[in-house]
Amino acid sequence: MAVFAGARARPLLVLGALLLSALLVLTVTAADSQNNPADQLVALINSNRTASKSASVSDNQGLGCIALQYIKAYEGHCDQVDDKKPMESSFTDTFAPTCGVQAATLSRITGRLVACQSKYATPAEALGILVNGAKKGLQTLHGKNHTEVGAAVSGTDGGGPYFWCVLFSDGKPAASFEVVDGEVPKAAIHPGCFSGSNDDCMGPANGGGAVSTNAGASRLVAALLLAVACAFTL
Ligand SMILES: *[C@@H]1O[C@H](CO)[C@@H](O)[C@H](O)[C@H]1NC(C)=O
Ligand SMILES: *[C@@H]1O[C@H](CO)[C@@H](O)[C@H](O)[C@H]1NC(C)=O
Repeated sequence: MAVFAGARARPLLVLGALLLSALLVLTVTAADSQNNPADQLVALINSNRTASKSASVSDNQGLGCIALQYIKAYEGHCDQVDDKKPMESSFTDTFAPTCGVQAATLSRITGRLVACQSKYATPAEALGILVNGAKKGLQTLHGKNHTEVGAAVSGTDGGGPYFWCVLFSDGKPAASFEVVDGEVPKAAIHPGCFSGSNDDCMGPANGGGAVSTNAGASRLVAALLLAVACAFTL
């Protein structure tokens, strides 16, 4: 008999646990806003530049999104990073439209650093790989002409190989790579993370894949997953 009484009480208990854990996760993760490896890379780039007496550069989300499309142009071919690069026309034909960047605001690219490897690298490791792997890498990192930057990281299908891309420009930060309505289309984002959008983005190290999602949606998914996990353990 006790078994049946327990079974009747269960649905309510489960529902309570679901709501409680969902609320808990939403509150806890709301405070966590700097969770984006591409933004972390830009911060490292700027501290490295200023330590070497170069001015810091502005993080531009339109350029960051373009850096992610630049990576996607390799279609996962890690070995092509050193000797191939996307056609210059891709910026106007593909990258800008995908990112919702207004063509008239595209500015000159004054430096680019691209790297790929099978193992995930932290942003600090990635900076070393990007700089040491390029001819005149340090010169590019410290370039005096740069005024702004966009960085991106992406795995293929959420796993390796991992690509990193940093694009520098000498455009006016407030008037270049302007995104229509200020929001990059969702289709431009997945899979990967880019800088300048103030979005949380799970890195491959903590999320099992370089998957960028709308921050709110990812919190909700995390909350629901935890809620389901809690329901099963009851
Ligand atoms: C920097 O700017 C100068 C003047 O506009 C230009 O001549 C030079 O080619 C630029 N250098 C790079 C690396 O873009
Ligand atoms: C800047 O980055 C390069 C490449 O990772 C590194 O060799 C150098 O030590 C860094 N400089 C500073 C001041 O951190």
